Amino acid sequence: MLLENKVAIVTGGSKGIGRGIAVKFAMEGCDVVIADVDLKESEETLNEVKKMGRDGLVVACDITNSDKVRELVKATVTKFGKVDILVNNAGMGANAGPTTSVATIPEDEWDKVVAINLKGAFLCCKEVVPLMKEKGNGIIINLSSLGAVHPPGVHPHYHAAKAGILGLTYDMARELGPSNIRVNAIMPGPIRTPFYDPIVKDMSDEEKAAFFDMLNNLAPLRRMGTPEDIAGAALFLASELSAFVTGAVIPVTGGLPLQPSNH
Ligand SMILES: NC(=O)c1ccc[n+]([C@@H]2O[C@H](COP(=O)([O-])OP(=O)(O)OC[C@H]3O[C@@H](n4cnc5c(N)ncnc54)[C@H](O)[C@@H]3O)[C@@H](O)[C@H]2O)c1
Repeated sequence: MLLENKVAIVTGGSKGIGRGIAVKFAMEGCDVVIADVDLKESEETLNEVKKMGRDGLVVACDITNSDKVRELVKATVTKFGKVDILVNNAGMGANAGPTTSVATIPEDEWDKVVAINLKGAFLCCKEVVPLMKEKGNGIIINLSSLGAVHPPGVHPHYHAAKAGILGLTYDMARELGPSNIRVNAIMPGPIRTPFYDPIVKDMSDEEKAAFFDMLNNLAPLRRMGTPEDIAGAALFLASELSAFVTGAVIPVTGGLPLQPSNH
């Protein structure tokens, strides 16, 4: 067991990558707090955590709301007494079609996308870091995106926010290393999750099939990733296997931005 008797908060843990991480951590002996706005799916993740023999908690939390984040951390400490690992995973894509020119994004849409994908991580860190400092150790894992450095489409608010996550990761790694708190990021490529639901919702079945076929053939490994692929990297970063790793960004992209060869 790589995470025996650890306690993790996974934001956006109700589905997709967050659920994959929550279940993987539970398999390795970790109790998991699922912080999300989707309570129904969060309960399902909690069931899966319990099936692995671990305890957990669902907390209704919009990570863009500092009061809710404070309540999240309080509820975690009340039930489990500590926070060993924070996974800043909650996020959302830009939902205004395949391209959203910087010239036409409404200001409130910019604010919303940046708040969910960047400010939320800041608010969670702000609450958790003092506890980790007091405890003398901690692990923070932030979810960026390959789009932060190689945008596959035009979504400046989403990509800027995910690039901001990289800056936050590097800065915090520097500040918090001496406090024995490691801060790293994962940079996913295309991962098959409900993240794509808003993107494909108006497509016909044929269009959807063609879209996922395209994504499945984009990377040298010739498939989309799965939540388990990301959970493997998260487990590495959360465990002592990565004891000397901080300020790192791990691409989990099937090889992107390398192009597949035809040989
Ligand atoms: N799926 C991909 O291809 C991909 C690629 C690169 C990066 N990412 C990033 O990985 C992370 C997880 O993505 P996913 O594919 O699992 O997405 P997803 O849409 O399947 O899951 C995101 C989760 O975040 C939750 N959430 C959204 N807004 C929230 C808020 N304000 N407060 C709390 N929870 C909130 C949702 O309810 C959902 O459970 C995100 O940060 C995403 O940007 C995903």
